[in-house]
Amino acid sequence: MFPYQQKMAFLKMKLIYTCLLVVGALCLYFSMAPFEEVPFIFKKKHGEFLQLPDIDCRQNPPFLVLLVTSSHKQVAARMAIRKTWGRETMVRGKHVRAFFLLGATASMEEMTAVTQESQQHGDIIQKDFKDVYFNLTLKTMMGMEWVHHFCPQASFVMKTDSDMFVNVHYLTELLLKKNRTTRFFTGYLKLNEFPIRNKLNKWFVSKFEYPWDKYPPFCSGTGYVFSSDVASEVYNVSESVPFIKLEDVFVGLCLAKLKIKPEELHSQRTFFPEGLRFSTCRFRKIVACHFVTPKELLTYWQALEGSREEDCLSV
Ligand SMILES: *[C@@H]1O[C@H](CO)[C@@H](O)[C@H](O)[C@H]1NC(C)=O
Ligand SMILES: *[C@@H]1O[C@H](CO)[C@@H](O)[C@H](O)[C@H]1NC(C)=O
Ligand SMILES: *[C@@H]1O[C@H](CO)[C@@H](O)[C@H](O)[C@H]1NC(C)=O
Repeated sequence: MFPYQQKMAFLKMKLIYTCLLVVGALCLYFSMAPFEEVPFIFKKKHGEFLQLPDIDCRQNPPFLVLLVTSSHKQVAARMAIRKTWGRETMVRGKHVRAFFLLGATASMEEMTAVTQESQQHGDIIQKDFKDVYFNLTLKTMMGMEWVHHFCPQASFVMKTDSDMFVNVHYLTELLLKKNRTTRFFTGYLKLNEFPIRNKLNKWFVSKFEYPWDKYPPFCSGTGYVFSSDVASEVYNVSESVPFIKLEDVFVGLCLAKLKIKPEELHSQRTFFPEGLRFSTCRFRKIVACHFVTPKELLTYWQALEGSREEDCLSV
């Protein structure tokens, strides 16, 4: 070879190596970046609880704690829940309590109203993060943190929403029958879900946010139930799990890391994230139903209280 050609070949190699190096570095950067942002999102930045509920779990350990995600404007929903399935109650000698999970808003009036509501009802858990739909993961993790720090004595926890009907009585019965105490996680199982890559969809998730093709097993965020040890474990592992704004998928990622598999609660279907037509007999044998307005909730409750279980046996 002539020296000139030799020199050109060398330069070409150098160029190729440089390109490879740059591409490699970029790949590394983009695969690491979303994971690095995680840790301080949860704990460090928003350390303090603004509102804590009125309960001493050491003195009076609840059997079941219901954590209900709610926002500032959903006052009617909270009032309806307090009068119905969220009312402090005993089921088969087991203590059940409901609390609402809230973030912060820029409106002084709304913040003051929530503080007053918290003083009046003693059932609000609140931290200083922006209360928007896509901060639901933070809201759920606040609930996990609260159980971990303030109520590990509870036997079970249910995370659910403000537009739900929950049959606390039947849920307690099924949990007692199931007789599981640790590493138990149940709800409406989603075992084969894929990220939605259509930008127009409400649940669109970019490849940047979630690069893999399949979600881990998880339970619909409309209502899932777990033994309280899971809260501590999920809270503990959450910092080392890639952040995703879909809270139920995020909890699924934590469970996968902990090697906890979501399981069925009962041989019959009891969770209805897509909603279900009301009938007293039907609603006696379900755990959770989505798309229930505060008004419907009060009506359903009255109908259930005024009906007798015996009348359903023939159905
Ligand atoms: C979630 O809350 C944090 C802390 O308040 C805020 O910085 C962030 O912008 C919020 N996320 C969204 C999607 O608004
Ligand atoms: C629940 O399980 C424990 C063992 O984990 C067993 O000793 C106990 O008898 C069970 N109770 C019921 C009611 O099945
Ligand atoms: C939290 O995780 C660490 C390791 O990452 C482990 O040593 C510790 O036992 C865990 N704590 C709980 C409460 O699970």
